Amino acid sequence: MDFAGKHIVVTGASSGIGLGVAKLLAARGARLSLIARRRELLDEAVAELGANTAGFTADVGDKAQLDAAIDAAAAHFGPVEALFANAGLTGGFTPFTAFDPEVFEQTLRVNLTSVFWAAQKVIPAMIAANKGAILVTGSMGSKRGMAMNPAYVASKHGVLGLTRAIAVEMAPHNIRANCIIPGFIRTEALDRIPPEQQGKIEGRVPMRRMGSVEELAEVAAFLLSDAASHVTGQDWAVDGGVLESIEV
Ligand SMILES: NC(=O)c1ccc[n+]([C@@H]2O[C@H](COP(=O)([O-])OP(=O)(O)OC[C@H]3O[C@@H](n4cnc5c(N)ncnc54)[C@H](OP(=O)(O)O)[C@@H]3O)[C@@H](O)[C@H]2O)c1
Repeated sequence: MDFAGKHIVVTGASSGIGLGVAKLLAARGARLSLIARRRELLDEAVAELGANTAGFTADVGDKAQLDAAIDAAAAHFGPVEALFANAGLTGGFTPFTAFDPEVFEQTLRVNLTSVFWAAQKVIPAMIAANKGAILVTGSMGSKRGMAMNPAYVASKHGVLGLTRAIAVEMAPHNIRANCIIPGFIRTEALDRIPPEQQGKIEGRVPMRRMGSVEELAEVAAFLLSDAASHVTGQDWAVDGGVLESIEV
């Protein structure tokens, strides 16, 4: 899995999964454009990862900002060869009948529509190159229902469908699209959950622990790499066995 010189755009790269995947891709030689809203965290990441990395501030839920960031990335490092569309929000948990329609719209825009916008922006150069890789971050909510967060579940089901649609239409152009499904991956957001609740979550994982960002990054790097050259339209869970298990 050598990414030497390959230009990869990573959205949601300021923390958690996006930052962890960016670190692994940088270590394997990629040139990286990091996109997120928090400038200071992007600056820290660029300082850590080095000259082959650049940060571009954008709210991915705003098409003009996202387009401008991807244009700036292409101006800096050349045509985008791979995209890790990972930015996402969980939103609050609210009973269905009280769920705020505005929050629903915003969650769909950030988690789903932004992936469509980003893919539409980078695919023309990939078609011209007759090569490309797109990886989208889904969720167990891409494949299962969950109470009190209809927007998140709908958006994450949506990105899996979008991934498959891109995969089928772009396969003749040698552009692959896959969806990575994090289970419970230990990021700052999960660290903030009270310890007793963390224990409950771990108890529901057949492997009896949360996954690490590093474990997820290995699979993400594989799916983005030429080692996965005949893999497209797939969803791949990194979840310690949660999705394929039942409680008995
Ligand atoms: N950790 C898990 O167990 C888990 C499980 C299922 C799915 N996921 C998915 O994994 C992805 C990453 O989440 P994470 O766990 O790594 O959480 P995180 O640390 O909160 O990362 C979220 C990233 O998305 C960015 N982001 C959020 N809204 C954005 C916006 N409007 N515009 C631009 N960037 C935005 C954040 O950057 P800024 O705040 O700087 O903009 C941050 O870099 C998400 O799609 C999430 O749904 C994670």
